Amino acid sequence: MFICTVTGYKGGIGKSTTAIHLSAILAQHGKTLLVDGDPNRTCLAWSKRGNLPFRVEDERKYQKLIREMDYLVIDTPARPESDDLKTLAEGCDLLILPTTPDVVSLEPTLEITEAVESANYKLLITLVPPLPNRQGEDLRETLKTNRVPIFETMVRRTVSFAQAAEKGVLVHQTGKKDPASLGAWRDYEKVGQEILEFWEANK
Ligand SMILES: Nc1ncnc2c1ncn2[C@@H]1O[C@H](COP(=O)(O)OP(=O)(O)OP(=O)(O)O)[C@@H](O)[C@H]1O
Ligand SMILES: [Mg+2]
Repeated sequence: MFICTVTGYKGGIGKSTTAIHLSAILAQHGKTLLVDGDPNRTCLAWSKRGNLPFRVEDERKYQKLIREMDYLVIDTPARPESDDLKTLAEGCDLLILPTTPDVVSLEPTLEITEAVESANYKLLITLVPPLPNRQGEDLRETLKTNRVPIFETMVRRTVSFAQAAEKGVLVHQTGKKDPASLGAWRDYEKVGQEILEFWEANK
């Protein structure tokens, strides 16, 4: 079974949105459980509002379910303590750290990557503004220069994510067939592909 944990050093950077969409991709490949480890229960509420193609369970009662699972995705609250990140990394196969491409995020991002102290993490740049803004690409280049493990794919910023959360569906299922929603889904599909490749190479 593959276990990935989605976490980060601050709130509102797309952790839960990432956990939901990656679970949907992994569910295409095997039985997938999303464990909601945030006391706010964002993912549980999302799943209860609509219809997601995988099961979401509370961190207090998922244990028996993992017997039958191929993929486990764990959503967490924001973790300001670097020690927490290290511990979380030790407890999973891949720690995913969503990161937004704003200038103030870079310094703390580099700090947390030092704190994780292991190889099984990857940064995911999300909420990327559309071109001609190049903040996403610039951050990706800076992180690569600093040898920070990072997903090649970035997730674009689109209002459809908020609508998807409201309706309890995925970003391409809100009823709007606009290029941004479909593109955002495609972004997560590519991230999912990178995760499967990572797992294939590291299991
Ligand atoms: N790619 C995106 N484009 C636009 N909005 C996004 C994107 N990803 C997430 N959002 C929005 O940003 C807000 C925060 O997202 P989310 O709840 O996933 O973050 P979080 O890191 O889990 O937050 P918290 O720390 O509160 O748990 C939500 O309103 C969500 O709809
Ligand atoms: Mg969240």
